[in-house]
Amino acid sequence: MSNQALLSNELNQFEEFLVGSLEKYASDSSTLLKAMRYSLSTGGKRFRPLLVIAAVKFGKGSLQQAFPIAAALEWIHTYSLIHDDLPAMDNDDFRRGNPTTHKKFSEAIAILAGDALLTSAFTMLLDQEDLSLSKRVQLAKGLSEAAGSNGMVAGQMEDIEGESQELTIEQLEYIHKRKTGALIEYAISAGCLLADIPVNASVALLKYAEHLGLAYQIHNDLKDVVFNSAQSGKESKRDEELGKNTYPSLLGVEPAMENLKQEIELATEQIELIKNSIDVSKVDIDTLGVFIQLLDYVKINVGA
Ligand code: IPE
Ligand code: IPE
Ligand code: MG
Ligand code: MG
Repeated sequence: MSNQALLSNELNQFEEFLVGSLEKYASDSSTLLKAMRYSLSTGGKRFRPLLVIAAVKFGKGSLQQAFPIAAALEWIHTYSLIHDDLPAMDNDDFRRGNPTTHKKFSEAIAILAGDALLTSAFTMLLDQEDLSLSKRVQLAKGLSEAAGSNGMVAGQMEDIEGESQELTIEQLEYIHKRKTGALIEYAISAGCLLADIPVNASVALLKYAEHLGLAYQIHNDLKDVVFNSAQSGKESKRDEELGKNTYPSLLGVEPAMENLKQEIELATEQIELIKNSIDVSKVDIDTLGVFIQLLDYVKINVGA
């Protein structure tokens, strides 16, 4: 079975877990639950859960232990998108080809659905009694740091503040690292912790995640410029309308593509490094290829 097929198997299992997690941790059939379910189930790529799963498989860890952590992360990612789309933020009417949560329900409901996904994600994570208390605390602290006032939210703040000014590429990289990179890096670090991946491989995987996180947002910025709405599931050219700083707006499309390629190469190098240095008895070496395959998500085919 190919690595990709292995992951799609596990992703199907994860999807089932994710839907069930809502019933368990958002416990009635109220409007709140409906809005949470709508936001969570309308077709995300599950990229961050995929990273957790890949890392846990690589470290020969337990997927049953990984799913609730990956689900908590996806809940928080989903909350970040609901709030990001609000009129007070990016004011987007469509996401993943569907009306955004505030368009489908109302602004108040969207805010509260986001709040609930953020808050209850931690209940789900901390509830996992088959994980040691020490791991639960480390995982919860890492997630709150990645999502919070020095992580994703800080990046979102600077993204909004930057709308009225032209930033340097270094400032933009700083924003991307926080608003998007932090949760992607968390996915890998959580997987490494869950599966007790040896330290040298964890360090390389984390560097891989840093390059991947930046590539992920450059790719997102490029999609806004080169994809049409049907391809991206949201209105295109919104970044320009909002005066956002992006790689293509600061550098131009071609140089942004070059930067993206470079980040992909740097991420690939880290995986090669692991291949050449790892004690293969400690890991599932066949899964290493999955990290390379995951880079396909950030490759762009102009005109595709
Ligand atoms: C979109 O993330 C916003 C960013 C942080 C770049 P994704 O592209 O992972 O969104 P979904 O979950 O697949 O829709
Ligand atoms: C979204 O960034 C980042 C977070 C929600 C944390 P963007 O605003 O650039 O992403 P899209 O274009 O709405 O997906
Ligand atoms: Mg935004
Ligand atoms: Mg946005």
